[in-house]
Amino acid sequence: MYVSHLSLHDFRSYPSVEVPLDAGVTAFVGRNGQGKTNLVEAIDYLSRLQSHRVATDAPLVRAGAEQAVVRAAVVRDGRTATLEVEINAGRANKARINKSPLPRTRDLVGLVRTVVFSPEDLTLVKGDPSDRRRFLDDLMILRAPRLAGVRSDYDRVLKQRNSLLKTAGLARGSAREGALATLSVWDDHLATIGAEILAQRLSLVEALRPYVGKAYETVARGASRDDAEITYKPVVEPVVEPVETTPSVETLRQAILDELARRQKDELDRGISLVGPHRDDLLLHISAGTERLPVKGYASHGESWSFALALRLAAYDLLRADGDDPILILDDVFAELDSQRRVQLAELVADAEQVLVTAAVPEDVPAALAGARYHVKAGEVTRDE
Ligand SMILES: Nc1ncnc2c1ncn2[C@@H]1O[C@H](COP(=O)(O)OP(=O)(O)OP(=O)(O)O)[C@@H](O)[C@H]1O
Ligand SMILES: [Mg+2]
Repeated sequence: MYVSHLSLHDFRSYPSVEVPLDAGVTAFVGRNGQGKTNLVEAIDYLSRLQSHRVATDAPLVRAGAEQAVVRAAVVRDGRTATLEVEINAGRANKARINKSPLPRTRDLVGLVRTVVFSPEDLTLVKGDPSDRRRFLDDLMILRAPRLAGVRSDYDRVLKQRNSLLKTAGLARGSAREGALATLSVWDDHLATIGAEILAQRLSLVEALRPYVGKAYETVARGASRDDAEITYKPVVEPVVEPVETTPSVETLRQAILDELARRQKDELDRGISLVGPHRDDLLLHISAGTERLPVKGYASHGESWSFALALRLAAYDLLRADGDDPILILDDVFAELDSQRRVQLAELVADAEQVLVTAAVPEDVPAALAGARYHVKAGEVTRDE
């Protein structure tokens, strides 16, 4: 798929801009702060209804404006659809397809599929487990958009359950009895929805693993495909026999319930949910000689970067294997890479259906990514002839 036209209204720094686009490579070049990332961020937002730069929507609306509109014509298998999202400051967002409103905004998620490489990706490797969980969840939702609903249900259950844990932890006597009875209902919700998320993440990591090894081999100098490894680390490890079988959703649900029962006192004391996929991590390891080392705390800067790139490339390859090329966004990444990695990455992505690159100077765009060039200056986006 590719975006053939992008319109922004009051999105970030743009009062209004129209950008016609082609399939293949397009580079946006311009000095710092001119609005290059804002353009690609808008396309990524349309895909996930989330920005790769900020957790909330407020910064996406131009300062002083009430709402931002992102509209894109998206071509898939020769057919064009116009997707639109209206981002409202302090009110619910709205989505439209070919001008018809969607009943739920989140039904837009996954209709455009993007994979973004950005300098922020280093947090995938160096950041908290929540950064890696988000990476997995975003990918799983792009592959199966209905999971956006499952994830938001889980977040809601977690919030409710946490506030109940706080109340129950402080209550005494019959009030406590009542709160505990209600808690068991929320335990059930958490286990049921949590098990589904857990099962999805486990199978996603299985699917992703070979691609990560392959991608790491390509981007890390002298590495082989066994040198990078990902492992899902759940807080609840179900016992399954034989060990190599994939646990069923029901097994996972039961395992979460058992662990909830076992940790109930801790949870009440601390007033937070300690059991469930919101506490899990994705472990990253590299080989150094015969040793297997965690990336965080051990890997060099270059190795960390290679691993982060490998995760993104693997996500791209996996989505591609599902049958439709996602739109690849390379936001300011080439400046971060040495010349050999630049060339390797450029060659890997050069045949993607659509690649959008941002760079401060033209020299940062590798020769292998020749294509359309736009100059971005003070909110004006002009095509170089
Ligand atoms: N909500 C907003 N309202 C108005 N201006 C904004 C808003 N959010 C960001 N900006 C402005 O947009 C500009 C940043 O744009 P962007 O991040 O696209 O720059 P860039 O061209 O990618 O720069 P760099 O090369 O440094 O990455 C900044 O000047 C910032 O002040
Ligand atoms: Mg930028």
